[in-house]
Amino acid sequence: MRRKFIAGNWKMNHGPAATSEFFNKFTAELKEAGDVLEAAAKGTEEIALFVPAVSLLTAVNAAKGTPVIIGAENMHWEKSGAFTGETSGPMITEIGATHVLIGHSERRHIFRETDEELNKKVHAAIECGLVAVLCVGETLEEREGGKAFNVIKKQFAEGLKGIDGDTLARKMIIAYEPVWAIGTGKTASDADAEEVCGFIRRLAKESFCENTADELIILYGGSVKADNTRGIISQPDIDGVLVGGASLKADSFMQIIKNAL
Ligand code: PGA
Repeated sequence: MRRKFIAGNWKMNHGPAATSEFFNKFTAELKEAGDVLEAAAKGTEEIALFVPAVSLLTAVNAAKGTPVIIGAENMHWEKSGAFTGETSGPMITEIGATHVLIGHSERRHIFRETDEELNKKVHAAIECGLVAVLCVGETLEEREGGKAFNVIKKQFAEGLKGIDGDTLARKMIIAYEPVWAIGTGKTASDADAEEVCGFIRRLAKESFCENTADELIILYGGSVKADNTRGIISQPDIDGVLVGGASLKADSFMQIIKNAL
C-alpha cells in the first residue's frame, strides 16, 4: 500500500511572521486531530508544506515535534557560486528542510525553466539528500490540441534522464498539475486527473519496471479544496494532492488533510 502525501505549496505567500501565525493555528488543530496524528505515526499519510525560501527556517522550527515535512519551492542545481538570488540544495538541507518542488508550472512558464535545467535540479536535489517532487502538466492549448499525453511523456522522460527506478520510487514524487487547473478554480474531473496519473504510472512501468510503478507516489494538483479532495484521492493512481490557495489557511488545509484520510 502506497502512503498518502498531502502537500501545500504556498508560492510567494507567507513570510516568516505569517508562517509563525499559520503554525500557531495549525499545530493547535493537529493536536486535536487524533486520526491525522495516528495516520502520520503509522506512515500511511504524510503532510508537507512547501514554503518560500525566507520562511524555511521559521517553518522547520515551528514544525518540530509534529509530523509535518517542510520543503522548498525551488532550488538551483549548483551547490554554491555566482548565482545571485538563487538558493542551493545544501542551503536548504542545512536549514533542515527535506523536500523540494522541481518544475512547478509557474517555474516552467513564468521563469522559462527547461526540461534540461529541471533534470539538473532533480539530480542535484537527490545528490544532497532532498526528496524531489517533479511537477508535470499540460497547458489548456496543449490539452485542446490533443497533445496532453505527449507533453507529459516528454516532461517525464527528460526530467528523469539518468535517474534509476529505485531512486524515482524512493526519493522522488511526481505531481501532475494541469496548468489550466492551477489557481483558476477549474479542477480536472476525478476521471481526467486519474487518466493522466494512470498514464504516468504506466510510463514508470515502461521506462523502469512494475515495482517502480507500484511504489511511485503520484499527486494531483490544481484547484484542490476540501470539498473535492475525497473524489480525487479515491482514484486508484492518485496518492495525494498538491494544494496551492487552499493551503494558505490552517483550517482549510487541515480539512483537506482530514478528508484525504
Ligand atoms: P491551486 O495551486 O491549488 O491554487 O490551484 C496548485 C499549485 O500550483 O500547486
